[in-house]
Amino acid sequence: MRVLGITAVLCLLAAAVSADPVRVRQPKADDEELAWWQTSVIYQIYPRSFKDSNGDGVGDLRGIINQLEYLQQLGVGAVWLSPIYQSPMVDLGYDISNYFEIDPVFGTMDDFNEFRDKAHSLGLQVMMDYVVSYTSDQIEWFQKSLRREDGYDEWYVWAVGERNESAPHGYNVPSNWLSLFRGSAWEWSEERQQFYLHSFTVNQPDLNYRDDGVVLQMKDVLRFWLDKKVDGFRVDAVSQMYEAEGFPDELPSGLTNDTEANNYLQHVQTQNRPETYEMIKQWRAILDEYQAADGKAKAMMLEVYDDPEIVMPYYGTPEEPGAQFPFNFYFISQLNAQSNASDVNRAVHLWMDNMPEGNWPNWVLGNHDQPRVGTRLGVARKDLFNMISLLLPGTAITFMGEEIGMENTHVSWEDTVDPWALNAGPDLYESVTRDPERTPFQWNTSANAGFTDEGVKPWLPVNENYLQGINVESELEADLSHIKVYRKLVDARGWRVAQRGALDTAIISEWVFAFTRTLDGEPTVVVVGNLGTDVETVDLSATFDGLPDQLTVHAASISSSTQSGATVSPQSVTLEAGVGLVLVANSTSAA
Ligand code: BGC
Ligand code: MG
Repeated sequence: MRVLGITAVLCLLAAAVSADPVRVRQPKADDEELAWWQTSVIYQIYPRSFKDSNGDGVGDLRGIINQLEYLQQLGVGAVWLSPIYQSPMVDLGYDISNYFEIDPVFGTMDDFNEFRDKAHSLGLQVMMDYVVSYTSDQIEWFQKSLRREDGYDEWYVWAVGERNESAPHGYNVPSNWLSLFRGSAWEWSEERQQFYLHSFTVNQPDLNYRDDGVVLQMKDVLRFWLDKKVDGFRVDAVSQMYEAEGFPDELPSGLTNDTEANNYLQHVQTQNRPETYEMIKQWRAILDEYQAADGKAKAMMLEVYDDPEIVMPYYGTPEEPGAQFPFNFYFISQLNAQSNASDVNRAVHLWMDNMPEGNWPNWVLGNHDQPRVGTRLGVARKDLFNMISLLLPGTAITFMGEEIGMENTHVSWEDTVDPWALNAGPDLYESVTRDPERTPFQWNTSANAGFTDEGVKPWLPVNENYLQGINVESELEADLSHIKVYRKLVDARGWRVAQRGALDTAIISEWVFAFTRTLDGEPTVVVVGNLGTDVETVDLSATFDGLPDQLTVHAASISSSTQSGATVSPQSVTLEAGVGLVLVANSTSAA
């Protein structure tokens, strides 16, 4: 399985399935207000693929500005933009050559300002991608470091191994470390006569956080965007910020025989070093400073794929807080299209039972690095997984297009642009390529799914299924559609019980998973789903105490024979293959 950044074999046994209901561990008293980053769905936009406004086949800020009403109507509360900064686009924007400028392919700083103001006026918070571990090799900082200019000498990780006359450059590489995108993580520089470290492509040299100049510079980046009134950040590739001093070799993992593949090695020396947790706390202090100044909550969410004992400490402690949350990637790393009820239950508890008291959970269903939900978790289960991730306690993160059930698109080798796939070559590229989940957003049935003008070749091919009803306009017109289910789920997130209720999960049968959300004085919500391929009829009252005789269907998968508005008896709930239902004990009050 391809999971960006994951290196350890997750210890599934770490999460014993607890019988006691899990209360939402909220930091505040019951009657205190929750912050936007707690109640919102956070919607990830991959700007290249959302909406093209100028007919160059690449999405841009003007396209996003024109579609902000769509997001408001969808009901999401915050937008996270993947990088829009100046970039040579070797890694499609994750290689930044200027952190203070917008890349012309996306627009101008004026466009950004307009985007932010309009988003705010529609009640949408704005989160930026904060790319901290590496820069583009085209950035001024790296050019200066290459020339050993005063002050910049140690901004990147420069080293040589032992002298070796027979080695290509007269030196061994400093260590056996591997790039996440295959091959050695060290690249020779003729100019400096040293190697530099690159955890990703050779055009993304790693910053050296042991240099104070780098630490100050990256704090300035944070302040620059906070001064521009952004509300938070998704911090990219946090795990790769620091590496062990002296560059000790890493040990083989035993997971693969492919010596070029990143998971050939364990990554004790190069990932999630103790200093990283400390830097996150310093960034949190900056966010808190801005929050205190303008009274508006700021949030930081971290990209870290790993075991709970590595991920959870990123929350920090009450005395020294870290991130609002590290991303919970367990629905990505722990589940696949065959997962059954106990697999889902285990993934839920892997987060809930390991999250330290007083913190806020979150659920990431997909992103621009992972196959789409329908493709990864099963086409018939798209609505069900939206139900689960949006109605568990905490923040839900949606990758654009999951609300309409977009699927992976086949991308030929000729059309491939993902650098990871290009590194792998024509024979291996399909095992790692991320192009299939990054194809253009599907707006309607016109040419190119309405993403760009007719006759223009989009930067990645459009999925043909936009003509089979997978697009916003058709789904809004249809009686039953993924987007209509999604909007009902967003509505339900406004209920007090969804925001503050206790969680109780259950494995009803091998394939049927269910959970309740309960809160004194509020109607209970039950989410139940059949993960299997056969129809099942289950008795929910045998598992959950105190359910009334009748439950109202608030939302149902599009293929369900029971649809919203219907009532069902908890003693006998019929679920077709892949179907999920959101059931409510009686009318619910708004939070
Ligand atoms: C981003 C990827 C990117 C990688 C290297 C990750 O954290 O999510 O899309 O390829 O960083 O730049
Ligand atoms: Mg464009």
